[in-house]
Amino acid sequence: MSIAHDGAKRTANGPLLAWVDEMIALCQPERVHWCDGSQEEYDRLCQEMVEAGTFIRLNPEKRPNSYLARSHPSDVARVEDRTFMCHRNKEDAGPTNNWMDPDEMMGILRDRFSGCMRGRTLYVVPFSMGPIGSPIAHIGVQITDSPYVVTNQRIMTRMGQKVLDVLGADGAFIKCMHSVGAPLAPGEADVPWPCEPEIENKYIAHFPETREIWSYGSGYGGNALLGKKCLALRIASNMAREEGWLAEHMLILGLEGPDGHESYIAAAFPSACGKTNLAMILPPEGMKGWKARTVGDDIAWIKPAADGTLRAINPEAGFFGVAPGTSYDTNPMAMETLKANCIFTNVALTDDGDVWWEGMGPAPDHAIDWQGKDWTPESGRPAAHPNSRFTAPASQCPTIDDHWEDPEGVPISAFLFGGRLSRTFPLVLEAFDWKHGVFLAATMGSEATAAAIGQAAIRRDPFAMLPFAGYNMADYWQYWLDFGTRGYKLPRIFRVNWFRKDENGKFLWPGFGQNLRVLEWVIERVRGKAGAAEGPFGLVPRFEDMNWEGLDFDRETFSHLTEVVRAEGLAEVADLEGYFAQFGDRLPAEMERQRLALKERLEAAPEVWRAEAPEGAET
Ligand code: GTP
Ligand code: SPV
Ligand code: MN
Repeated sequence: MSIAHDGAKRTANGPLLAWVDEMIALCQPERVHWCDGSQEEYDRLCQEMVEAGTFIRLNPEKRPNSYLARSHPSDVARVEDRTFMCHRNKEDAGPTNNWMDPDEMMGILRDRFSGCMRGRTLYVVPFSMGPIGSPIAHIGVQITDSPYVVTNQRIMTRMGQKVLDVLGADGAFIKCMHSVGAPLAPGEADVPWPCEPEIENKYIAHFPETREIWSYGSGYGGNALLGKKCLALRIASNMAREEGWLAEHMLILGLEGPDGHESYIAAAFPSACGKTNLAMILPPEGMKGWKARTVGDDIAWIKPAADGTLRAINPEAGFFGVAPGTSYDTNPMAMETLKANCIFTNVALTDDGDVWWEGMGPAPDHAIDWQGKDWTPESGRPAAHPNSRFTAPASQCPTIDDHWEDPEGVPISAFLFGGRLSRTFPLVLEAFDWKHGVFLAATMGSEATAAAIGQAAIRRDPFAMLPFAGYNMADYWQYWLDFGTRGYKLPRIFRVNWFRKDENGKFLWPGFGQNLRVLEWVIERVRGKAGAAEGPFGLVPRFEDMNWEGLDFDRETFSHLTEVVRAEGLAEVADLEGYFAQFGDRLPAEMERQRLALKERLEAAPEVWRAEAPEGAET
């Protein structure tokens, strides 16, 4: 049985039409809709979701053209356990990725997808990652049975007919197959958030050799908006290695100093560690001559240009940001971005039809929580889910950079890597050279947000890419090492840590806007203008190397913030041995060389190394 659709009027791309027909036959939807990406289409889908109970329209006076969605409680975040890299050879996926043989996985998926869209509409969503028609953009086509996904994709990507027009009759596209996995029997009533509730029935599967993505069972975030982590990181990291570029979990930020000097940095922090905050940073008191401009908050595609500079584009068109903790104090530019035309997922609904989340400001006396239940400040549970998110058009960000859609990208002068570490690691470190920088990024750790006891577990999150590197992590490190030998104008590499704490568990560093002081030091280092002391972990600013105008920060605290405790450093060196061992003979020899060099530097260091101590050789 075939279903009529107007695909042939929309595109002359034979492989696309054939694939869509094949997927219709497999999934057996009731209707097929080719998305044109228009405002009318978006508004109509939103209205249909309001009627179906998936969306709640927010108070148009408080939050125009914006909606709240509440997911099923089993479907609130990426499912890393069910995310697979299906390379032909298991070793190519490596020890940090789940693997299944591609034929075996495809067999399972064909079973799952068979009839999975019964009673639903199959949407064809053509999208471009990167400005449409840009030489560095890539086109994907997502097939999905979720109108929630369609509306989110319209914000997060360039989506619709204009993409098909650029694709033409013989353009290449990445197949992105998605179903929430909840077919409807004839006459069966739908639920507000259909999904497959059993975790072991969900699959987020990637086929790097054929550049395909198949996602089944979840409607949430990176599981379902397939342009983002699946395409722009996991598949793109494979393409990047083949073609000589980089696909990274990085924000991109433009900075202009009081002397008019402009530069761009790219920074990789693990999920929920402050990329969106830094991407939208506002200069603090005392640094008013500075300007900071947003290019991207989550993903960077970086390509060497003819002049050897590394140029970065943000492949996305929107922000899918963590809501809790976002406020006019912590991220005013995000708050401004969220004023209209947004989708909020799993935040609380206030009695006046607006949204609220923990950390936004004073709690309302009453709200409806993310599960649709009555909530008051006395309820003893969060009103918004900790991974509740906003979907917002990047163009609405007041600090969006003039060049954010420049198809050539922006030139990067520094890479920052940073986790959430309450001990051991200084506020900022500069790598001695590229190879040492790769070591610093590869060994990056981050704490799982504090458990009941004070000692949080550290998870290594190399390059903030642990869940996103689409091939063997050790090969990825080797690729980064090789990248440094090709004669490019290499950005300097830094490690940052906003999260160091004192003995009482209090953050030593005020963070947020004040992080611009660290960025100033970074940029002045790149320009050869700022000093540093040589410590065991890398180059560290002394108190006098930083700009303190407008901030009363004492020398003693700064000293604690940047010190290296030898015993802690040596414990790190010892821990790295086991961490490296899992990569077997794929581990680049350079990584072990760097580990031993760090060990030697630590053994020669005082018990507590401080940037201003006479032992620290000045540079
Ligand atoms: P994904 O979208 O998941 O990739 O994450 P992200 O890196 O964009 O995370 P996000 O910006 O949403 O991280 C927010 C978290 O980082 C919140 O818990 C913030 O309070 C915290 N955060 C951000 N900047 C700082 C800082 O300078 N200091 C401290 N202490 N916390 C910070
Ligand atoms: C992340 O987890 O790093 C995100 C959110 O940016 S998601 O798109 O859901 O992966
Ligand atoms: Mn992310």
